[in-house]
Amino acid sequence: MVRRFVFGNPIETEAVLEKPKAAQVYADKTDTANANVKGEDKAVVESGVSIPHLAWDGEALSLRMDEEDIVYGLGENVRGINKRGWIYVSNCSDIGDHHEDTHSLYGAHNFLLIDGKETFGLFIDTPAKVTFDVGYTKYDELRITVEDSAFELYVIEAAAGDVIGTLANVMYSGRDAGCEREEKAAGDDRGVRVELSGQEISIPEQIVREFRGLIGRSYIPPKWAFGVGQSRWSYPTAQDVREVARQYHEHHIPLDMIYLDIDYMERCKDFTIDREAFPDFEELVEELKKQGVRLIPIIDAGVKIEKGYDVYEEGIERGYFCKDADGKEFVVGVWPGRCHLPDMLDDEARRWFGHKYKTLLDMGIEGFWNDMNEPALFYSEKRLAELFDKLPQYKGKNMGVDDFFEFQRMAFGLSNHPEDYRSFYHNYRGQRVRHDKVHNLFGYYMTRAAAEAFEELEPEKRILLFSRASYIGMHRYGGVWTGDNESWWSHLLMNLKMMPALNMCGFLYAGADIGGFGSDCTRDLLLRWLALGIFLPLLRNHSALGSRKQEPYAFGDTEDFRGILALRCRLLPYLYSEFMKAALTDGMYARPLGFVWSEDPIARRVEDQLLIGESVMIAPVYEQNAAGRMVYLPEEMKLVRFRGAQIAEETVLSAGHHYVEIPLDEVVLFIRKGHILPLAQGGECVADVDWDELELVHFAERGARYELYDDEGESRNVELDDGIQWICL
Ligand code: GLC
Repeated sequence: MVRRFVFGNPIETEAVLEKPKAAQVYADKTDTANANVKGEDKAVVESGVSIPHLAWDGEALSLRMDEEDIVYGLGENVRGINKRGWIYVSNCSDIGDHHEDTHSLYGAHNFLLIDGKETFGLFIDTPAKVTFDVGYTKYDELRITVEDSAFELYVIEAAAGDVIGTLANVMYSGRDAGCEREEKAAGDDRGVRVELSGQEISIPEQIVREFRGLIGRSYIPPKWAFGVGQSRWSYPTAQDVREVARQYHEHHIPLDMIYLDIDYMERCKDFTIDREAFPDFEELVEELKKQGVRLIPIIDAGVKIEKGYDVYEEGIERGYFCKDADGKEFVVGVWPGRCHLPDMLDDEARRWFGHKYKTLLDMGIEGFWNDMNEPALFYSEKRLAELFDKLPQYKGKNMGVDDFFEFQRMAFGLSNHPEDYRSFYHNYRGQRVRHDKVHNLFGYYMTRAAAEAFEELEPEKRILLFSRASYIGMHRYGGVWTGDNESWWSHLLMNLKMMPALNMCGFLYAGADIGGFGSDCTRDLLLRWLALGIFLPLLRNHSALGSRKQEPYAFGDTEDFRGILALRCRLLPYLYSEFMKAALTDGMYARPLGFVWSEDPIARRVEDQLLIGESVMIAPVYEQNAAGRMVYLPEEMKLVRFRGAQIAEETVLSAGHHYVEIPLDEVVLFIRKGHILPLAQGGECVADVDWDELELVHFAERGARYELYDDEGESRNVELDDGIQWICL
């Protein structure tokens, strides 16, 4: 059950597709006279309508957390799967150098789920800044403060009586094509409607499904986007790109995508090609496609100010850029130097910007990554001028502690300055709106610009699209990568912890820069990170300018990398099937253990294992030089060990804690009781993988069944019913 409360007069985000009727219109904090707080945990307005679970004191929403309560959610953020014990601020931030003490990353995902004696979800819908103090100030208090005071609150509860539900709402007709190799389970007639494995869904998962039902179906990429991606800032010439493909192929390491970073453009100008570096760009695209490799270019939010550059000229002529307080185009510094920001919130400007992607589609490109769209502001004209005005004061000065820190603040404070975000305006739904009021929508609407254009330009075809900045709602238009992480073991673990939270918020096609973006990666870190990455939908090795080369072949012997990425190909039928079932039923692809064993107090606290789809649990190693790790099994499971891509061991382990040895060249996964994992034979790209020749690894009795979803992987028109085959033991 979903209840909606409207506080003040909020700005529409279009995160929620069909809004339930608002239960009550609350006064905003400028009108607190109307909000009459009665009782400790209930906010009551004079009409007597109360907000379930929460108190409203005119400033903040709050609730008392029990010792046992777990707080899930908040999408892309630092720290645990359980978010307790920190302050998170939803404010899309260009924050390369992020650590455990960071409060905001690139996305703003205001959904959380409190799981305890009472279990319910909350979604705070506002494009402005929101602060979630999850037991940081007071250990037992969750306090939510919305900068703008106007917002919509959704309280989501599982339908009464559904203690444990089944996926009855996702019935479909099955086909038994996969069963022909094996005996069909009794009573499974062709075309009979069945439940999705009769899976049980816990209350937390039901709540997520309810929420996802509100915000609409998650973005579905083409099937080839589940392959292996290699990226680097940068492969600056066509020759460099060809060399990456050559190396991969020579070493027989699977590859599906090579990413192009800013250097493919002419002086970082969107929708241009540097013809000196890429004289035969179109031929290169075709040549690689024949080898099963797609080129995926980056698109940045800022448009370079340059006379004669068509995107700039058109944007100026049509008034499509964001304006300053005086109505002049706002100037920001980003990669190309001085830029204007297209007004992604203005319907016309958005349509215009989206259609610019056609230039690259026409060159054979089928996927993009949208970057710098928080938006990142290296500097504004004003701030730069201020800095230069002040600099002479420091010249020759004997800087002591105060001067030095002030100087440092001044220089480092140039970028992404809060005042700059308050200095430009959008034309949003016919109103002039100051940017900071709608800040969290910018990356979302940039990605929407592209996706809406693709619907018109390529109505039949899925286009790969993911973004750095995001807000809930954007999950319908594209995926996300989690920005500029580092080659740190802690960031490998952070990658794991973020996945379920992103899934809760609708972002299924998601991943981190594998191996880490900044800093220098080591061979063992890359191998361990891949042992997680091969289970995640977006699998991309990406690294920063100046960092150590991070392609698998940069570390000498490639056998281990070949093995682990070949295993990705073997897993593809299962991973794609689980992804598509999650997308088409508003489910989750990566779940915390507490979502399945919600009554098991140990499982609820596990922070370093995940369920991937219905059959598999993973427990990657995330510490350097570790020979293995402790793994918690909430119930009896089958350990399957892969050496390279081949199965080396299958052992049934009892419920409880186990130390499992996992050498660097091995991947271990666990199959849940009663479940099946279909494995392909292998391949060197997605197109190579034979979906019909499946080996069934399982921990199940004869007659058990796996519902394999498959489709041709390109069409936008996908329905669960059309793609399901039963595979029976
Ligand atoms: C940003 C992106 C990173 C990219 C770089 C250069 O830092 O997050 O992925 O490589 O810009 O375009």
